[in-house]
Amino acid sequence: MAFDKRKSTQGTWVDIGAIEDLPPGTMKRYDLEQHRILVANVEGTPFAVADTCTHEDASLSMGALQGDKVKCPLHGSRFCLRDGQAMDEPAEVDLECYPARFTAGRLEIVF
Ligand code: FES
Repeated sequence: MAFDKRKSTQGTWVDIGAIEDLPPGTMKRYDLEQHRILVANVEGTPFAVADTCTHEDASLSMGALQGDKVKCPLHGSRFCLRDGQAMDEPAEVDLECYPARFTAGRLEIVF
């Protein structure tokens, strides 16, 4: 899949879809090149983190969005979407975070 890449001071913004594809209170996994990225819309603000749990190989997109946190579907660790922090055991390693923004009706991230 080809992406519309535009340079920014943070890296290259990549257009990954329309705002309407990610309503407030929802999250979605995007497979972008070799990256699996979870993007959540928290009260109108997008946050992007690695989709794979740092404990074992579980897709966080299959878990539960709880405000600005995502709960892993396998063992229940929660991660903060704002900074990737692992908040509960058994996960001990934070998630990688990616810049994300809504602009001109589109969802863009840097990865
Ligand atoms: S795989 Fe996510 S908490 Fe174990």
